[in-house]
Amino acid sequence: MGEKKIILEQEAGETTKSVHGGEYEFNDKYAITTPIYQTSTYTFENTAQLRDFFEGRSQRISEYGRYGNPTQEVAEDKLCKLENAEAALLFPSGMSAITTAIFAICKMGDHIVITSDSYRRTRQFIRQIMSRYGVEFTLTEPDAESVEKVIKNNTRLIISESPTNPYLRVVDFEKIVAIGHKHRIKIMIDSTLATPFNFKPLDYGVDIVTHSVTKYLSGHNDVLAGVLLGKSTIISAIKELQAIIGGISDPNSSYLIIRGLKTFPLRMQRQNESAMIIANYLEKHSKIDKVWYPGLKSHPDYEIAKKYMKAFGGVVSFQIKGNLETGTKFIDSMKIPKIAPSIGGVESLIEQPSLMSYYELTTQERESIGIYDNLIRFSIGIEDTEDLIKDLDQALSKI
Ligand SMILES: Cc1ncc(COP(=O)(O)O)c(C=O)c1O
Repeated sequence: MGEKKIILEQEAGETTKSVHGGEYEFNDKYAITTPIYQTSTYTFENTAQLRDFFEGRSQRISEYGRYGNPTQEVAEDKLCKLENAEAALLFPSGMSAITTAIFAICKMGDHIVITSDSYRRTRQFIRQIMSRYGVEFTLTEPDAESVEKVIKNNTRLIISESPTNPYLRVVDFEKIVAIGHKHRIKIMIDSTLATPFNFKPLDYGVDIVTHSVTKYLSGHNDVLAGVLLGKSTIISAIKELQAIIGGISDPNSSYLIIRGLKTFPLRMQRQNESAMIIANYLEKHSKIDKVWYPGLKSHPDYEIAKKYMKAFGGVVSFQIKGNLETGTKFIDSMKIPKIAPSIGGVESLIEQPSLMSYYELTTQERESIGIYDNLIRFSIGIEDTEDLIKDLDQALSKI
């Protein structure tokens, strides 16, 4: 690996950063792509070289695979360029990133505030696992006023998501950050659905941004990964815990992330545009009860989304007129999107949350947590928008 990184102009655009950010000017054997360093450990020529490494006089990244890998380092640096972060840390999944961050920040006796409609597994981890370690929590609405009301003396962390999933609620970042600063509480935002193309929370003073890299950033439904981004001090403290826990990203995943990221802004642009067109189309359709998309005036957070976001992302949720069975008939009639539980890839995916993430609950139990049987979540891929609209049209005509 060469020693010199590609230097980008301060004002370089998103796609230039995606292609060249974090990369070395020249790689081993002058390969244009970053190689996959498939290694578990790193050798030293002699003890003097080992001493140089441990005393900070050498460029090498790590001495053992659990502490870092050159392919991973390039992927992390590229993500930093896209999110305007000082440091990034990759994990083998989004959940691994979130849980390691929470473990690193919270100790017994602390209190976490988490906003409702945040990723179900994040809520479950806090409710079921952190409570075993003496960490309490409060679940509250994703608006600043509700968050401030539940702050306690021992609140250590505020966790929110923006947009949330499936209702695509958007938080007012300036207000949330002001609350964090006033009460000296760290703020972690899961920005998976926004992506750094549409919004960069660190620019507003958020402490940690996390993404399920599995989704838009990798973008091809072929890799699981997560990332934490923020100031070097915070990220290096979490890295110490990661090195002990061992939840590290492997070099092959890092390679796939680098490759996926090179087309990330192009994909995102298409997905943003298609989603906006599809949301408008659905809102006018006689078989649709309600559309949840923050780019629509009818969405409760439209004004906040407009203030912070460049565009509104690639997920559109909607409630059809009818019940669970009507939803199933509609989904089964769709030809392009596959039925699967993820978002953000090039392939469109569609699901009924009631029959996917919330399968084990009864209709009543689902309704009590705001998941309605007629709700559909559509993750829009990069297929031609007209083809997706035609497909929606024919499927809606069947119900
Ligand atoms: C918003 C959000 N955050 C985190 C995760 C967890 O990511 P992963 O599946 O990569 O562990 C998901 C997964 O669906 C998600 O949608």
